[in-house]
Amino acid sequence: MLFIRVFECERQNRHFSSSVIGSEQVFGNAHSSAFEAAGWIEIRIHGSVVAEPLEIHRRSVSAQSMRMQIRRRIKAMIRPIFFSLYRTAIRSQCWYLDRTNTDHYVDGLPVPPAMLRFRVGETASVDSFFAVGNNIARIIQAALESTGKTMEKFNSILDFGCGCGRTLTWLAKSIPGKTFYGTDVDESSIRWCQIHLPFATFSTNVLLPPTTYQEATFDLVYAVSILTQLNEEYQLRWLAELYRIIKPGGLLLLSVHGKHCWHGLSHDDLRILEERGFLFKTSSKLHGLLPDWYHTAYHSREYVMRTFSSSFRVLAYMETGLGNQDLVVLER
Ligand SMILES: C[S@@+](CC[C@H](N)C(=O)[O-])C[C@H]1O[C@@H](n2cnc3c(N)ncnc32)[C@H](O)[C@@H]1O
Repeated sequence: MLFIRVFECERQNRHFSSSVIGSEQVFGNAHSSAFEAAGWIEIRIHGSVVAEPLEIHRRSVSAQSMRMQIRRRIKAMIRPIFFSLYRTAIRSQCWYLDRTNTDHYVDGLPVPPAMLRFRVGETASVDSFFAVGNNIARIIQAALESTGKTMEKFNSILDFGCGCGRTLTWLAKSIPGKTFYGTDVDESSIRWCQIHLPFATFSTNVLLPPTTYQEATFDLVYAVSILTQLNEEYQLRWLAELYRIIKPGGLLLLSVHGKHCWHGLSHDDLRILEERGFLFKTSSKLHGLLPDWYHTAYHSREYVMRTFSSSFRVLAYMETGLGNQDLVVLER
């Protein structure tokens, strides 16, 4: 058995952080004193380059563990190529769909360009864009009604992170006579909404608060699949801003990646979620299609109840209330 301690070094701001990688079963606990005493080969990996064997104490080697390490390194090398091909395929598909689609309206509703559809749903399908938007609008109304509120009570309604209006279009259609607003950080989506969706007022917001809205402007704000993308700092700052612009007694409805979205996460990730209740994972898969700060956040129910209730009153927490996402209804 050869004891190998492998570090993955990552540059974070100006510091290098290193974490031990490897199977505990094979390598044992890298921090245990028994392991320290046994001696090991220490290999530092910078990016995908294996370098700098530091100390070498020979024992014996497990071929299985070496194969595991090699497979992991190969996967790490192949992943960027795969992601790059995936992005090229998406761009080509969107380009093709925009050139071949002659239906500019579906049931009287305008069809946004394929890339804008992709950005809200990770699919450029027109059918899916309208079906999902319609479904989310119904779910929002039903969720509010289940807490004893009806849409009729809300006059001033904001879709925070509206994208190209997937949900807003259907809500405005099913409850006419309200004043609808939409805001998003995505300028091209908002520009499209301003031209094609005259029943609402749209504006672009910057990455971090504040918005340009006055204090206590809205009876209802909903944020579908927004906190699911933000890191903890952004999330907390946006929650404080939404609190500011909602009227006292007004509601905030939002969705999170609760425990039904955690399948596929590693043991380490699940441990973080159990201990901290919040996890933020970055990926380069959609680099260039979505903003670089936009990744995937996971929340535990306990975290939501604890953190969000420091300002809002939690009226309802609905597990899988929005497909596999959880829905939360908060009152200011
Ligand atoms: C998954 S899409 C959902 C869009 C829309 N809520 C819907 O359900 O159709 C997430 C949206 O959030 C927007 N977004 C992300 N961070 C934002 C922020 N800080 N401020 C405003 N919008 C943001 C993105 O640009 C994108 O349009």
